[in-house]
Amino acid sequence: MITRERIAARVAEMGRQIAGDLRTSIHAGRAQGSGAAAGDDAARVVMVPILTGAMVFVADLIRHIDLQMSVRPITVSSYPGAATTTQGANIRGELPTDLRGCHVMLVDDILDSGRTLGLLRRVIEAQAPASLRIAVLLSKSKAAGRDEEVTVDYSGFTIEDEFVVGYGLDYDGYFRNLPEIVTLREVK
Ligand code: IMP
Ligand code: MG
Repeated sequence: MITRERIAARVAEMGRQIAGDLRTSIHAGRAQGSGAAAGDDAARVVMVPILTGAMVFVADLIRHIDLQMSVRPITVSSYPGAATTTQGANIRGELPTDLRGCHVMLVDDILDSGRTLGLLRRVIEAQAPASLRIAVLLSKSKAAGRDEEVTVDYSGFTIEDEFVVGYGLDYDGYFRNLPEIVTLREVK
């Protein structure tokens, strides 16, 4: 569906755009004298990839963002085992708890029902970050609407409502290592 060359070109473009927008936010925050209590600009950009799906995307994306940052992954599970429809988002393990005053970038592989990013947006907003943006590699078009409408700031590609794997996306834990994004179809 999407070749590695197209993915690479788009991820590079997204990284440049995100870096520019983060720089603008950092400068605006400095002008207002707000920001992290520590006052350390280097500590203030925090990438929050949603594992496991976003691991390949975030690894490529951050190498196109020329800013000091920390990476604080969180694990969310919504597709137990061989399910191909969401069973509702569940946060597994610890959430970063010190995002107050930080410029946070939530990164996910794909926006589908909106439940995962909707939940995480609420949880992170409750910590009063200086800014919160969302980047996804893929957005399903969802003609029938999403369970939760989530506005994403950066979206790599819009795709049809098909189940896809590769470039970090899995089916039952497999296919994350495919360098392309491909459609998963049942062989009858
Ligand atoms: P949502 O909560 O329904 O928006 O789903 C988001 C999560 O479900 C993503 O982080 C993916 O991990 C997973 N997901 C949704 N659609 C697909 C797909 O087509 N292939 C693989 N994983 C998917
Ligand atoms: Mg996921």
